[in-house]
Amino acid sequence: MSNHQKPTTFIIFGASGDLTRRKLIPALFNSYCKGRLPSSFNIVGFARRPWDDDQFRQILQDGMKELAPDTYDEEKWGPFSQKITYAKGDLPTPQDYLALKKHLDEIEQGAGNRLYYMATAPRFFVPIVENLGAADMVEQSAGWRRVVVEKPFGHDLASAKALNNEIQAVFEEDQIYRIDHYLGKETAQNILYFRFANTIFEPIWNRNYVDNVQITVTESVDVGRRAGYYDQAGVVRDMFQNHLMQLLSLVAMEPPASFKAVAVRNEKAKLFHAIRPLPLNQTVRAQYDGYLEAEDVPDISQTPTYAAMQLFIDNWRWQGVPFYLRSGKALQSKNTEIVIEFKQPPHLMFNDIEDEDFTSNILSLCIQPDEGIHLKLEAKVPDSHKTQPVDMEFHYRSSFKGNSLPDAYERLLLDAVRGDASLFTRADGIEAAWALMDPVIHGWENDAEAPPMARYEPGSWGPAEAEALLAQSGRVWRHACSHPDQ
Ligand code: BG6
Repeated sequence: MSNHQKPTTFIIFGASGDLTRRKLIPALFNSYCKGRLPSSFNIVGFARRPWDDDQFRQILQDGMKELAPDTYDEEKWGPFSQKITYAKGDLPTPQDYLALKKHLDEIEQGAGNRLYYMATAPRFFVPIVENLGAADMVEQSAGWRRVVVEKPFGHDLASAKALNNEIQAVFEEDQIYRIDHYLGKETAQNILYFRFANTIFEPIWNRNYVDNVQITVTESVDVGRRAGYYDQAGVVRDMFQNHLMQLLSLVAMEPPASFKAVAVRNEKAKLFHAIRPLPLNQTVRAQYDGYLEAEDVPDISQTPTYAAMQLFIDNWRWQGVPFYLRSGKALQSKNTEIVIEFKQPPHLMFNDIEDEDFTSNILSLCIQPDEGIHLKLEAKVPDSHKTQPVDMEFHYRSSFKGNSLPDAYERLLLDAVRGDASLFTRADGIEAAWALMDPVIHGWENDAEAPPMARYEPGSWGPAEAEALLAQSGRVWRHACSHPDQ
């Protein structure tokens, strides 16, 4: 029997946690309803709570009804939930893996593939991997064995390297799937389609035409109940090292020769290695007013909840083009947007147009919430000699009516089952991203030259210092995806 005919088991470590209810089960259920899961599959939850199969199923069903009511389907839930079982166990305890192995052998009844999903706090990643290795649950004679590793992947470069080494001591690199859910977003994937499935943009996608690139990932929520985790991490570890760097790689990398994992990940690694180390005076760190009052945050905390940075990529395509990255919590709205601002025409021949009235072409890749692409053009105002910027817009919701955008986890889980790692991060990619962000984090903490912690009002667009970062070269942050008048 070839591997793809064998049953596949999803084993979720940390199955009693939020991620399982919120993301993993809805993603698996939606894939099941679309007929995309392997014809024979099982889902096994592994956690410490003293539940039986029925209790576990009930909790997941309640979660579906509460968190994914639009896709919940009572009729289909019945047969789907029969595939779900629960194995009680303690993540660091080796003997509990022997019991898990027995449970898996019983439900698989013969050869089968296994996807181990670490939906746990990061301190359990290594014990899980070691216990799987010790219980002989990694070797692949009966079917493939793969492991999905959640974020945060390490706390800094040294710990990310150590984690890579420890996982690779048990699993081969091609069995390891490091997940970054931003790569599973349809709109993030569409960046590559936009660039490489069209002919008109790629010729201008370089320093000759692009003035600057801006990547904005703002969130309106504050740290809320996650303050305990967040205060140890801060915005650079939580968002920049992973999500913003991945978005940057999609926008800036060279065209891979194919969409195969090796080709895509080689180009990303090349790009990360071409990024110039970031000088601290080109960074901004800030905390929102009220952060220190949040539960579990020490009142002397120096953890940034907002950051902005200017960086340069030292290669032929991007030499001299500034890339601006910003992200933060407790801001005015939730918005992920990539702006490509083009240069002004070399000569303006229209008498009535002053340079300062003129808006360069701006291309916005709107990742969320209003997914689409906008292109700003200058148009002649009728019955006048002036120009005015107008938008050409593509919106997913109107162009693809009826095709709702799947959640990122749906695609990524199926890719892991198919063995396609192109949307997952390779060890060298993770380490290269840490190598760029580590000096910023450490510089902020230890360097006397580091910019002081700025402050911002919750509900604002961030600190004035972030505006000043662009103003030093006469630029401004753009919000081209949202329409204030709508
Ligand atoms: C997570 C971060 O990785 O991404 C969170 O830990 C953040 O702090 C979240 O809120 C944002 O993801 P999304 O998909 O809602 O933009």
